[in-house]
Amino acid sequence: MHSIVSLISGRGSNLEAIFKTATAKSWDVRFTGVISNNPEAKGLDFARSQGISTQVLNHRDFASRDAFDKALIHEIDHYGADLLILAGFMRILTPAFIKHYEGRIINIHPSLLPRYPGLHTHESALEAGDTTHGATVHFVSAGVDEGPIICQGEVPILLDDDASRLAARVLKMEHYIYPLAVEWFINQRLQIEGNTVHIHPPESQYISFT
Ligand code: GRF
Repeated sequence: MHSIVSLISGRGSNLEAIFKTATAKSWDVRFTGVISNNPEAKGLDFARSQGISTQVLNHRDFASRDAFDKALIHEIDHYGADLLILAGFMRILTPAFIKHYEGRIINIHPSLLPRYPGLHTHESALEAGDTTHGATVHFVSAGVDEGPIICQGEVPILLDDDASRLAARVLKMEHYIYPLAVEWFINQRLQIEGNTVHIHPPESQYISFT
């Protein structure tokens, strides 16, 4: 039985997608806790409605990033986490934090990394005139939006797209690839080698809706 803890800051739709897939497919997991730095995060309501224990750790209550991350580690380890899922968690984590969870902390980013790390990815893809865009699930390493890629999902950019229409299409893909990546992890199919993730037995790690 795997223990999963998730960190969120907002809507929590990725957490919801993962939880619903876990329930529908009867994964051998327990969602031991959901922690938010934002007391208003909507995702907390979903977690509570499913009986998952929740915690708010407001970063504004801490004097430094180090102090916040230490408190976060304390809470996460109290819950017990074989897998730590960042699902729209909008804080940069310290190298010490990331080291502590090395190999068991994953994130989703709304672009086809290494293109467009950071914020405003949909606007950037539109401005660049790209014809496709997407999302990436990756293990977290010290750099922002870096780390070995588990899988990517590609969607088309349509002629009349604006950032919000494009974001909605990417979000649908996120809700498909994040549960998929978690399922691979809990089934122990992932092997990290340098900056590459191999999946055993092999399966496509690039999903395209184009
Ligand atoms: C998603 O677009 C995710 O890729 C990014 O933050 C957003 C979180 O959405 N990291 P939600 O809170 O899971 O609905």
